Amino acid sequence: MSKLKGKVAVVTGASKGIGAGIAKELAAQGASVVVNYASSKEGADKVVADIKSAGGTAIAVGGSVAKAADITSIFAETKKAFGKVDILVNNAGVYAFSPLEAIEESEIDRMFNTNVKGLLLTTQAAVALFPKEGGSIINIGSVASQMAVPNASIYSGTKGAVDTITRVLAKELGPKGIRVNGVNPGPVLTEGVVSAGVDGSDFLNSMIQQTPLGRIGQPKDIAEVVTYLASDDAGWLTGSLIEAAGGLR
Ligand SMILES: NC(=O)c1ccc[n+]([C@@H]2O[C@H](COP(=O)([O-])OP(=O)(O)OC[C@H]3O[C@@H](n4cnc5c(N)ncnc54)[C@H](OP(=O)(O)O)[C@@H]3O)[C@@H](O)[C@H]2O)c1
Repeated sequence: MSKLKGKVAVVTGASKGIGAGIAKELAAQGASVVVNYASSKEGADKVVADIKSAGGTAIAVGGSVAKAADITSIFAETKKAFGKVDILVNNAGVYAFSPLEAIEESEIDRMFNTNVKGLLLTTQAAVALFPKEGGSIINIGSVASQMAVPNASIYSGTKGAVDTITRVLAKELGPKGIRVNGVNPGPVLTEGVVSAGVDGSDFLNSMIQQTPLGRIGQPKDIAEVVTYLASDDAGWLTGSLIEAAGGLR
């Protein structure tokens, strides 16, 4: 249970949902974890409290990945607390679904600013704090990038960009010993899915029916794959995209 002992991990968007599950799992494997949040300080504090009560180390750090100035302060706080970054999980992401005719410019900006611009600038800031031995970056994409689901043109577009960025940065950062991989979940039961009104919808039920393993995912299903990629067990993987979706594709 200490595969990540001595490592420092930053998880963006870890106040709830998949990010919270990842933060707890990385901490359970011995990493010191920065639990980033945008608006839910209470949620992030609870994740930190859960990690500490299980014997782990974590701090909550606020800041939106959609704002460059916030990213600078997230990593300044990380450096102050832990001195380095070994593992970055780019999990913060937003999603909403609408047909082409209902798309608004503000929604394009919101999703691309968080899911794509935020991921790139966060990675840039984190890499500056990686030690010379390198480390591991895990980008949370989605099966939506390949499934081409109707009414998801913006969201799927952002996640297609994430897949490509993962492959590009794997080549760029490989010589520094930094591995860059992606985890692409299918539907996962999270606060975001509930508040988007997706839970219980015909859309979600049809996705579950198409899932060979026959159920919706849970944050822990994704967190265990991320923890594997963060560890030396995945030392020969970079530029890989792992579908964590119960076989849905
Ligand atoms: N759930 C699914 O079915 C599913 C499937 C495939 C992929 N994914 C991907 O998995 C990731 C997490 O999804 P989720 O369902 O767990 O979402 P969620 O329940 O809505 O939680 C989103 C998290 O991201 C944070 N966040 C949002 N905007 C942010 C920003 N600008 N800066 C920093 N943090 C921000 C939120 O922080 P605050 O609460 O503090 O605002 C929250 O902690 C996303 O990248 C999503 O695209 C999800």
